[in-house]
Order: sequence, then structure tokens, then C-alpha cells
Amino acid sequence: MHCIKKIKDDLIWVGANDRRLAMFEGVYSVPAGVSYNSYLLTDEKTVLFDTVDKAVRERFLENLAEALNGRALDYLIVQHMEPDHSAAIQDLIVLYPNLKIVCNEKTLQFIKQFYDFDTGGRVNIVKENDTLQTGKHNLHFIMAPMVHWPEVMLTYDSTDKILFSADAFGCFGALNGAIYADEVDFAKDYLNEARRYYSNIVGKYGTQVEALLGKTSALTIETICPLHGFVWRKNLNDIVSKYALWSRYEPEEQGVMIAYASVYGNTENAAEILASRLRDKGVKTQMFDVSVIPASEIVAAAFRWSHLVFASTTYNAGIFVTMEALISDLTAHNIQNRSVAIIENGSWAATSGDLIRSHLEKCKNIRFIENMISLKSGLKTVQLSEIDTMAAAIAAGLNITSGKSQSAGGPAAQNMIEQAAFFKLSYGLFVLSAKDGDKDNGCIVNTVTQITASPLRISVAVNKANFTRDMILKTGEFNVSILTESAPFRIFENFGFHSGRDTDKFAPPYAYDTRAANGLRYVPEHTNAMISAKVAESLNYETHTLFIADVTQAIVISGERSVTYQYYFDNIKPKPQPPKEDKKGFVCKICAYVYEGEKLPADFICPLCKHGPEDFEKI
Ligand code: FEO
Repeated sequence: MHCIKKIKDDLIWVGANDRRLAMFEGVYSVPAGVSYNSYLLTDEKTVLFDTVDKAVRERFLENLAEALNGRALDYLIVQHMEPDHSAAIQDLIVLYPNLKIVCNEKTLQFIKQFYDFDTGGRVNIVKENDTLQTGKHNLHFIMAPMVHWPEVMLTYDSTDKILFSADAFGCFGALNGAIYADEVDFAKDYLNEARRYYSNIVGKYGTQVEALLGKTSALTIETICPLHGFVWRKNLNDIVSKYALWSRYEPEEQGVMIAYASVYGNTENAAEILASRLRDKGVKTQMFDVSVIPASEIVAAAFRWSHLVFASTTYNAGIFVTMEALISDLTAHNIQNRSVAIIENGSWAATSGDLIRSHLEKCKNIRFIENMISLKSGLKTVQLSEIDTMAAAIAAGLNITSGKSQSAGGPAAQNMIEQAAFFKLSYGLFVLSAKDGDKDNGCIVNTVTQITASPLRISVAVNKANFTRDMILKTGEFNVSILTESAPFRIFENFGFHSGRDTDKFAPPYAYDTRAANGLRYVPEHTNAMISAKVAESLNYETHTLFIADVTQAIVISGERSVTYQYYFDNIKPKPQPPKEDKKGFVCKICAYVYEGEKLPADFICPLCKHGPEDFEKI
């Protein structure tokens, strides 16, 4: 008996679920099953988007016949030739002899490789931006090579604003009677399956996924129909934003994944103690025994967390087998942009740590937390301090939310420099904070630059009217919090449009109890990195003081994008209201303050943001 789902009046899901499959692609466990989605558009022409796996072929053909309701099938659009979506093509040729196949050149090559039927006169080749009018609907083809095979293409229905997304935005897990992501608790029950699907199936191809997201961002999309998992009709950004992070290999969460391989429990014990120490510091942890948990779970977790710890015994003079398989899987999936700590064990000749490091060194932007821990059989009391040091170094790189006073590093972390923090610097906007006695203060600056790597120095230019500048001149220390695109205008107002001489910038709701190792506050939200520095030189440049400073600490806070000056003006700063017709004056381009009058005094300083006449324009 058929089992179909209506998505629109003329769009029907004709796919099927498989809960008996043990291993998807022979390697990824799917305990919650998997769906193979196929969609039928019943316009003036009937159009099918892909077929299904051979395991559910019979149900699919029954579903299709029901949805067609006696009509013939005019077009089959083949978006992806992997056999879990193309196993029924030959059946369709037999059942619907006049069927036309719509695909690209590469797909045709694969059809000929997988099948022996004569394709002559049956195939419409399409390329990027080609369209197919099926009656009311206008279908546009978007090439997406390597998301996940080279022939993959997507179809955009500009009539109903539907993106048929092939493997993109898919998810493991059978649909269990639902069809829309908003019918289930997706974040709780399916997000990890979506992450596991992404990281394991297309994780290697982040660049290609990013390119595809660039193309689809120009479209108005109301519905996403992927080949696995749920249809998205609400909150599309829930899945699209995850893809944006995953494709850039940016972590979703600040926290630690600990994967360990332990033969007799001693390596496991060290990993447990480290996790316990991290939790004491308010750090989120997730642990995996790599000998028990399928690698696909651990690869997905590595895409989720910012920090990775690998603890492995030495085995046959190398890495323990299951850990070796995991490391090889992670490097094959292009893991990047992570902080990594390593614990090795070896009763007579430990080698696993250096070997793990040598594999991961081939991945991009992996920051190793120094002082790998090397155990000889088991952790001894004298080595507990090494675990503490490792926990402190990890915690220093995290934005911890323990509820207690949070510190970006205890004594062991005071020299912690995460190089990735400097990759966040742009012509952006920053909170520059300082402390003089009991007084904490901060202001907004837009020029922070790394000037040398050795010694590691940055420069910061600050308007002389800023109280923070006076405090730094006096104390010689400051922190820079790098703001992100999520920063709301109120943060710029709080730190940028008032003076610390008569305002407490860190009063609620900005009473952040986060301090760097130098004891100065920093901003832990809507920021992606924090840099502490000690002034080496102060240079006087008319309106500004330029501080040249030695970096003492640098931590990555999040994977969000840094806000640029341009982004701030385009997307965050409220647009100035059109002036009343008879109003004469000048408006500040920075904060929109309006000076009323015929002439702006040459020495005028904006009372809100402290910028001079050069940043005002005539109304
Ligand atoms: Fe479900 Fe790449 O296919």
C-alpha cells in the first residue's frame, strides 16, 4: 500500500524509509534508520526529482503510481547519481517509456556507467542557470559539484520558491510519519543526526558547500526539499546557519571532545580525570571510548566542539588501532580550526602522542596545546599537576560560563596565546578595556592591528578624548575584545557613546564577570576572540594616541565572523532618520548625533562617540 505525503497541492513526497539498514554506505551506523526522499511535481508536465535506494524501490514505485493518479511521468530530474537515489531509474524507463531524463553531462556519464539502457533521444542535458518550464512552474538548475559527488546539481522552483537540495541540508533518521522539520523536536532529536550526516558525507567538501551557500543565498527560499531527512518550511536558518559553520569548519560550541583508546583502563582514567578537572572549571565536555563508539559519532562531535583531546595507548609501536582509524577519518574529513591536546600512554616506549600530532599537523589551522602528557602505564600523583596544567590551558581558550567568576586562565594559562585569535582581526570594531584601581572601563575602537609576530605585538589607536586612553596611559595594560556580526547596536551605544568618566560601562546588563589573566575585564558575548597586551610604546598622533603593545594572552571565544566596519554601517547602525525639511545642521556618520546649526565648529567633538568634524556630514 502506498504511503505518500502532500507538501503542496501539486508537490508530493513519494519516498520511503529504511529502518533495517545496519550501515549506510557500508560504514555509517543508522540506528534511527534513514529516509530516501523523492518528490513528484504534478504540473502541466509531471516531474520527478530523483528516485530511491533499491531497498525501498517497491514502495517507491507504488507511491509514485498513486501520486501520478493515472498520468504518465514526463520528466525525471536526476540531481544525484549515487545509487541510494538512482536505483529505480531503469524501472521508470520501463514503466514510463516516453520519460525524458533531465541531467547534466557528468550525470549522463554516470548513468551510462551504472546502467546499460539506451539513453539516445531520452536525455535533456542542462547546465548552470538553465531552466525548464513545466507549466506553472519554472525550474532553475544550480550545479553543486562535490556536494557530494561531482555531478550533483540542485533545482530551484522560482514559482513556489522551493529548493530541491539533493544531499545538502539532509539528515540521517527515518521520518517516523512526519515530513517537516518543524513537526519534530529537531534540535533535540535530529540535530546530531544532521551533523553526523553532514560531517561524514560532505564534511570533506567544505569549500564546495560554502560555494553552494553563496549561490543559494541569492535566492528567496521558502521550502527546502533534501534527499534525506525532513522538508524545511519554517526556521530555515536553523539548518542553513549550521551548514555555514560546518562548511567553514568552525565549531558550533565552545567545549571539549575527549576521545580515548584504552586497553586496560589506565588511559581512560587519565581522560576521566582531565574531564573532571575541566568540568570543575565550568567547561563542557563530551567523552568517547573510540573502541566502542562508531567513528561517525566522534567525527560529528569533532565538528561540534572547539577543543579536541585525544588520549591513546601505544600499540604495536604505534597508535592504538581504533584511535588510528579515528585520526585517519578526521584528517580525511578535513577537520580544521581546532585546539588539540594529546595524552599518550606507553609502558616502555610511548609513541602514540607524536604520531597523532604528526597526522593532525597536516590539517589546516590546528593549534596544539603544548605539554603533551606522556604516561608510563598509568597516571601517578606527580603527574596530576600536568593534568591540571592541561585543563587550565584548555579553559583559557574557552569562554566559560560556569556561573562563578570566570577567568580566561589561571597561573598556568597566563602565557596562553592562541594564534587563531589574530586571524579574527580585520578593519573591524573592538571593545578596548582597561582597569585603574577598582575602576573598569571600556570604549569602542576600530583600529587594532598585529604588527609583528616576534615579538608578538599589536597596535591600537585611541581617540585622546576617551577615558580608556587615559587609563591605559597610566596603567600600561589593556584587553581587546573582537566584536562579531551578532553584536547588537546597544553594545556599541554602551561602550561607544558615553564616557567612562561619568558612566559605569560594566554596569548591568554589561556586568561581565569575565577577566583575562591580567585581571582586566573583557566582553564574552558577541565576540570571537580576546587579546591582552602590555604597552611598549605610546605615540602621539594629534587626535589619537597609538599604543604599541606586547601581547600577553590571546584566546579564541567563538567561531562567529568578526564584524567589519562596513558590516556595522550596513547592518547594525540604525539608519539616520530623514531630517525635517527646515532643519539645518550636521549628522555624525558614526553615531547619528545631529548638530544643529549653519556651521560645524572646527574643534567640535561629538558628545556621543567623540569623533571630530571629519566624521560629520551636512544634512
Ligand atoms: Fe544519499 Fe550522496 O547520497
